Amino acid sequence: MKKINISLTVLFFMGFSWLQAQERIPQVEELLGKMTLEEKIGQLNLLTPGGGVATGSVVSEDVEAKIRAGNVGGIFGVSSPEKVRQAQELAVKNSRLGIPLLIGSDVIHGYKTTFPIPLGLSSSWDMDLIEETAKVAAREATADGINWNFSPMVDISRDPRWGRVAEGAGEDAYLGSQVARAMVRGYQQDDLTRPETMIATVKHLALYGASEGGRDYNRVDMSRTKMFNEYLPPYKAAIDEGAASVMTSFNDIDGVPASGNKWLLTDLLRERWGFEGFVVSDYTSVNEMIAHGMGDLQDVSALAIKAGLDMDMVGEGFLTTLQKSVEEGRVSEEEITIAARRILEAKHKLGLLDDPYKYSDESRPERDILTDEHRKTARKAAASSFVLLKKHNNTLPLSKNAKIALVGPLANDKNNMLGTWAPTGDPSLSIPILEGFRNVAPNATVTYAKGANISDDPEYAKKVNVFGPRIEISEESPEELLKEAMDVVENADVVVAVVGEATEMSGEAASRTEISIPESQKKLIRELSQSGKPVVLVLMSGRPLTIPEEMQLPVSILQVWHPGVEAGNAIADVVFGDINPSGKLTATWPHNVGQIPIYYGMRTTGRPAASEEFEKFKSNYLDSPIAPLLPFGYGLSYTNFEYSDVKVSDNTLNSNGEIIVSATVANTGEYDGEEVVQLYIHDKVRSITPPMKELKGFQKINLKAGESQTVEFNISVEDLKFYNGNLEYVFEPGEFEFFVAGSSDGEFQGTFNLEE
Ligand code: NOJ
Repeated sequence: MKKINISLTVLFFMGFSWLQAQERIPQVEELLGKMTLEEKIGQLNLLTPGGGVATGSVVSEDVEAKIRAGNVGGIFGVSSPEKVRQAQELAVKNSRLGIPLLIGSDVIHGYKTTFPIPLGLSSSWDMDLIEETAKVAAREATADGINWNFSPMVDISRDPRWGRVAEGAGEDAYLGSQVARAMVRGYQQDDLTRPETMIATVKHLALYGASEGGRDYNRVDMSRTKMFNEYLPPYKAAIDEGAASVMTSFNDIDGVPASGNKWLLTDLLRERWGFEGFVVSDYTSVNEMIAHGMGDLQDVSALAIKAGLDMDMVGEGFLTTLQKSVEEGRVSEEEITIAARRILEAKHKLGLLDDPYKYSDESRPERDILTDEHRKTARKAAASSFVLLKKHNNTLPLSKNAKIALVGPLANDKNNMLGTWAPTGDPSLSIPILEGFRNVAPNATVTYAKGANISDDPEYAKKVNVFGPRIEISEESPEELLKEAMDVVENADVVVAVVGEATEMSGEAASRTEISIPESQKKLIRELSQSGKPVVLVLMSGRPLTIPEEMQLPVSILQVWHPGVEAGNAIADVVFGDINPSGKLTATWPHNVGQIPIYYGMRTTGRPAASEEFEKFKSNYLDSPIAPLLPFGYGLSYTNFEYSDVKVSDNTLNSNGEIIVSATVANTGEYDGEEVVQLYIHDKVRSITPPMKELKGFQKINLKAGESQTVEFNISVEDLKFYNGNLEYVFEPGEFEFFVAGSSDGEFQGTFNLEE
């Protein structure tokens, strides 16, 4: 009896993986039984036809031949029902076993209806809206033949130098986990058999956002307690929500690149988290382990498959070396069978094994892509993502009859509205700000002048313009551009300047060491601020920027990220007051690059500085404040919210009980508005140093002018757990402080005790 108990306990801790492994899918097993070793290896190969798409053919010669030979498990970069049908026909009618293909794509923030960049979407703090954007993306992408999405990217990043901060949900593990779940729900809708849903891929496992120096693809080194508490939760949340695939990251972890890291891909992912889907490498990340110093192509491919990687993206290391490794006894056929089974199981989950043409309904694109409804969602999502950073003299919202000077290099631009990683979107469909102003305020007089180039540096522009013109340097000199703008300003009541980053100044391989507004535009902003006219800066970027100078100027600042296809309409909705801005920052904005990494949940030191006043032998800087310029959770509204009556239902929380923290929030201004009410706690004593603050709950509420509401947060022991030094998920009794506020920059307002 005792023996049985022990083995059941072991099974429990292994996430029932042994039991699950017994639940085989007969259709998959039957196929596996017929497959040669070569055919199994073929399933592990993911290709992109590249040029084939550009020239209009379904797939390039090589890929076609490989599909026919049964050497391909999936492709990406191919879309449209007919092309996907042709690709599936190649596999189904021409390969020996007729196994259909996975059809992948990077649908990161919308398919053809492009939503704001993910960092912007997260700033809405609206999980239903985020889920809806993912659902729309899935409807559109699947209408175009795609069944597997390389999203959500859930990498936590506290380094705005890293360009891919644009693609994630910011710095916080709690918020990031909610966003991760919402996106998986949107893409998969708990039912992958429906033709409107697609497989979600949580990426990039793991820690990619912590690359040293914010330089893309750089190494990562991190303690396990930091990983478990601060970086891994969003990946786990996506998996718990049912994400059916995982993509590895380019970086190493404890010195072993993620794509060959057995601790990561097997011990953590499979055994500890119980993940049952398949794992794909990032683009050639298996081959890149050669440059990492892990051996030759055969070595790194063997390392990857043995670590638990199932599919090799583009590099063909699996295809070209695994057979040899089996013959030499370095890899077992069983290891390859396990990976092939996972790919076939994914195809089974999608229903492809029964109907390979499920995503090739030619009537769907017309019906499902870029519908009015979808564009409306994009407009709403964009407006919800904007963060009002600064109010000055109630300049905003503008009157719809105003005489407006609309200036700046991004004010009448289509090429920079969609944001980074929008390869399926079409910039020519985007609404420029000038057009949006005319749509929303037809009675306003709007005069446009460019005023400045995004950057005056042609070398810099060349690096940014890899996917098309983003920084277009005018033939006119910077002085002429500026003069034209100032002439327009002279005849206006108010100035709106649309400034900031071009789309490809953030995103993949777009790290910056200076994250201010480029100097060419700073000159324009300085001149405008001295014009004597009220000035609104509409700021676009894919990352937090350093804007201490602009925050000091007599201007209002609205942060709009890269807003997507409905950019101009959404900006006009907010600027003219049809929508009150309600976004809050999900990543801290530093004063300067030297403060990075800076985030609200830092752990305290033994010598915390008591104030901004410099004190020798305290943890501070000689030449910079220690506080950020703008904290996590920050964002203003056209109205004002006041918090009062913050209290806790009971001062003691038992380990099986629950307490309620509540606060009354009043809209004391003149506009109706939405507020993101945030709860932070601080665990005063812990066996490992606690963060100074931790977000534990938030609610976005809608209050009419003059209205108030009591907001309640339930707290149970589950909310207070953390990973201790032995990586056990525990709670520790003791005193906790809390506050409820409209940003992370609050004072503690009460305490409670957690008891055993
Ligand atoms: C490389 C990127 O890191 C990853 O996010 C993306 O999904 C793949 N390329 C495929 O395009």
